[in-house]
Amino acid sequence: MNKNGMILRTPLIVRFCHICIVILFLLTALSGLSLFFPSIKAFGLVLGTPQLVRELHPFLGCIIFILLMFMLIKLAHHNIPNKDDVRWMKHIDKVIAGKEPEDIPIGKYNAGQKFLFWCIMSLISVLLVTGFVMWRRYFSDYFSIEIIRIAIFFHSVAAIGLILLIIGHAYMAIWVKGSIKGMITGYVSRAWARKNHSKWYHDEMKAVYEAEQKAPADDNQNAEQKTV
Ligand code: HEM
Repeated sequence: MNKNGMILRTPLIVRFCHICIVILFLLTALSGLSLFFPSIKAFGLVLGTPQLVRELHPFLGCIIFILLMFMLIKLAHHNIPNKDDVRWMKHIDKVIAGKEPEDIPIGKYNAGQKFLFWCIMSLISVLLVTGFVMWRRYFSDYFSIEIIRIAIFFHSVAAIGLILLIIGHAYMAIWVKGSIKGMITGYVSRAWARKNHSKWYHDEMKAVYEAEQKAPADDNQNAEQKTV
């Protein structure tokens, strides 16, 4: 891939983490739906047999939680809400119509992405806690039937909520041309960055400029390059 004029948006480790989450989420969501709707046998086939679904579904959920906590550590600082997000939210109708005002400085992620980020992190935490309470093989004996029923209720609500959010997330990723490519290759064009995340673009350019000013000419090539 020709990386001329491109900016690194998502480092390899985060991309690897994300692709693992996408695959595991598909398996976990479908197997979870097969537990709630046993009549839809096709969903359970993703993990083989109903017995395997019951065994593997909780473990896959735990792995997704760990991977998401890694993403939380890596990306939380880019997802802290600020006053520009309020302006972005106020113009949400224009954003949806594709006529986003250009004067709103948008950081690495916009307000919608930030909202989704924190919803994902909250819902996966609810799923983990309630999932442990429901986990018949290891933990559910420690809880009363009332507590288990409450856990099942919140587990179902959080699961449906997360599945719907992820459908929206995937739709947005397709809608904003260039973002999926950015998640696969790690790089986005400068034009994409300027159009969709103007403040992040200027911060990145400033960092590159400052690095170039500091480093002696010969060292410039050796310095870690964010743009190539
Ligand atoms: C087919 C499914 C999916 C697609 C196409 C997709 C696509 C993407 C893309 C393109 C980005 C980068 C956005 C950008 O650079 O502006 C992203 C970020 C992200 N995705 Fe996904 N994704 C999918 C599934 C998932 C799932 C299942 C989860 C978690 C349960 C997830 C969690 C995240 C998170 C946490 C970020 C970082 C966003 C932020 O920090 O605000 N994604 N995704």
